[in-house]
Amino acid sequence: MSPEQHSLNRFLAAAQPSATYALIDRVAARRAEGIEIISLCAGEPDFDTPEHIREAGIEAIRAGQTRYTQVAGLRTLREAIAAKFKQENGLTVDWRDTLVCSGGKQVIFNALSATLNEGDEVIIPAPFWVSYPEIVQLCGGKAITIPCNAASGFKLTPQALQAAITDRTRWLILNSPSNPTGAVYSFEELRALAEVLMAHPQVLVLADDIYEHLVFDNIEFHTIAQVAPKLQNRILTMNGVSKAYAMTGWRIGFGTGPGWLIEAMAKLQGQQTSGACTISQHAALAALTGPKDFIQQSKAVFQRRRDMVVDMLNKVQGLQCEVPQGAFYAFVCCEELMGKTTPGGVQLNTDEDVVNALLDEANVGVVHGSVFGLGPYFRIAYALDDESLHRACTAIKKFCQSLSH
Ligand SMILES: Cc1ncc(COP(=O)(O)O)c(C=O)c1O
Repeated sequence: MSPEQHSLNRFLAAAQPSATYALIDRVAARRAEGIEIISLCAGEPDFDTPEHIREAGIEAIRAGQTRYTQVAGLRTLREAIAAKFKQENGLTVDWRDTLVCSGGKQVIFNALSATLNEGDEVIIPAPFWVSYPEIVQLCGGKAITIPCNAASGFKLTPQALQAAITDRTRWLILNSPSNPTGAVYSFEELRALAEVLMAHPQVLVLADDIYEHLVFDNIEFHTIAQVAPKLQNRILTMNGVSKAYAMTGWRIGFGTGPGWLIEAMAKLQGQQTSGACTISQHAALAALTGPKDFIQQSKAVFQRRRDMVVDMLNKVQGLQCEVPQGAFYAFVCCEELMGKTTPGGVQLNTDEDVVNALLDEANVGVVHGSVFGLGPYFRIAYALDDESLHRACTAIKKFCQSLSH
């Protein structure tokens, strides 16, 4: 049979592979050549999972917790998730209206595949996490990206939301703190968006709160279901243990939303993974019910690193960086570098050129802003030790100083 006869699903064929993973692969290839690269590409904390959580995983194995759980997750974990939403977010949640998935990403995937029909529109404020438009595309939907520039703090305004909603709009995705900008929506900003949504009952809201615990400068975190209880019956509040508890590899995410949606997502999951890893679910239970000092400690470390990175980069001529209020990313404007030439003879016409040149000529890995829907920028993940971050920023500075007109 010819390759044409084995054609791919058209939604998959039109989707892009993860741009972040592509850069991580390029960094790995350079390292394999023996070149020392400081990679600021990956979106995961550089800490180990706290000891008591790891022990809970080991204990689960020893205790023979090695079989399937219910598709929607262990009841004890779902109860702990409902309690977390109550205590930390002020949401009244029945544990039956929660779902445990293999990572926060799968919560999003399940929700969109359970609800989207071909051509349904999903509003995504840009800059956005790279996976949102691709997941929408894979589910047959149409991503409607709305540019949100530095002047609006990279945040969606009620006017822009109102203008983007059509009869085909099925979802709005809100991510606060944001990957890649670190922007955090205030109570008032969420309330203003909620007011617009009130008039459009066909629109569901996906609140991606995965960076909830990484909010700096004593800013208070809010999620839209808490701000607008009247909308709660059409909000999926998504979260997980990956970023808050340094558990990216355990693959546990969770969500709460209206019963019909959670049921549909569980139906899908039942034919897909049969549920999240049992051992990881026990570890996640220990995370949600155990001591929380790790969260405070990692937040303090990230805030210190943010201060150092933003300060160093803002002193570099040609770069500008707003102070991110959360997550562990800095989104750096490199507009002034456009048109300049590197010592290696590369003319910088796009942010992708900047990212490639930084990798090839300064041995620093970052991700270009255009893959997050806004250029010319690059994203730095400061989930790395202070010394490496200092060296990376110094190398970026030297690179910028070496450019000629
Ligand atoms: C904004 C955002 N949402 C969701 C996720 C998914 O996290 P996980 O699937 O590891 O729980 C990530 C991971 O990078 C993210 O940046």
